Amino acid sequence: MGAGLAEVCARAGLDVLVAVSRPARIADGRRKLVGSLDHALRKGKITEADCDAALSRVSFTADLTDFADRQFVIEAGPERESVKLDVFTTLDKVVEDPDAILGSNTSSFPIIQLGRVTNRPGKVVGTHFFNPVTVLPLVELVGSVLTEEETVATAETFVTDVLGKQVVRTKDRSGFVVNALLIPYLLSAIRVYESGVATMTDIDKAMKLGCAHPMGPFELSDLIGLDIVQAISESLYGEYREPHYSPPPLLARMVSAGLLGKKSGRGFYDYP
Ligand code: CAA
Repeated sequence: MGAGLAEVCARAGLDVLVAVSRPARIADGRRKLVGSLDHALRKGKITEADCDAALSRVSFTADLTDFADRQFVIEAGPERESVKLDVFTTLDKVVEDPDAILGSNTSSFPIIQLGRVTNRPGKVVGTHFFNPVTVLPLVELVGSVLTEEETVATAETFVTDVLGKQVVRTKDRSGFVVNALLIPYLLSAIRVYESGVATMTDIDKAMKLGCAHPMGPFELSDLIGLDIVQAISESLYGEYREPHYSPPPLLARMVSAGLLGKKSGRGFYDYP
């Protein structure tokens, strides 16, 4: 989702710096950005000049100290606690402006946990975008018990007026609004499949044709990433202890096998 976020910000005219985990990943990050901009160009959403201008506004780094001069940073790393806490600890040290806002695209981690490893918990806010970021208009804005109202208000203005998205404010509860509703549905689809009610493709077909969903639950899980679905499920289960949030065995086995969905080339479906 980081590439999508960078694209949306660059197309809004912002100077964007993208952090990748190691220098070898810079080429990959740029390739994703170029691929998505080309797609938008082919679909007639942007002109060639917009595409070139957006590309010229994005630079890449593998060194978080390069973020010293930033005013708004959005973390979009893997849904792993240790990674997120490290990134927030480092960002807090390197970002010089004490009023700069540190946002997180986390799907499920409590924002307070990210805030408390910084010296500016009042400036830490959840900014949860949806995949594909270039297409879906929603951003969930999540303030922790320590987030200042001014931070949430500034983030809301940024997301709506600058990025052109729409905001729903939510409390700092696992899954916020969308994932608290969406993830049990995706997990139920796996349980329905495992109990032999219908084939995977027919379950997808049923939800697309019967409920006008743009994707079926297996296609959507592959798009989100099965590791992410599992991580959110564990987080929801950890918070609420309700059985419908617990990850079904098939999901856990697929993640263990590295079958993570579209990003790994294979999940419930193959992506050659
Ligand atoms: N920039 C601008 N517009 C773009 C674009 C880009 N880079 N890429 C695609 N688009 C536009 C296209 O032009 C098209 O617009 P029109 O309908 O106006 O022509 C639209 O987006 C759809 O694009 P495509 O034609 O390429 O693809 P599609 O019609 O097959 O739709 C899809 C693909 C958008 C993914 C659609 O199937 C969809 O919306 N699926 C559901 C996705 C969803 O539910 N996401 C939420 C996941 S949950 C999450 O992300 C949160 C979490 O924490 C897990």
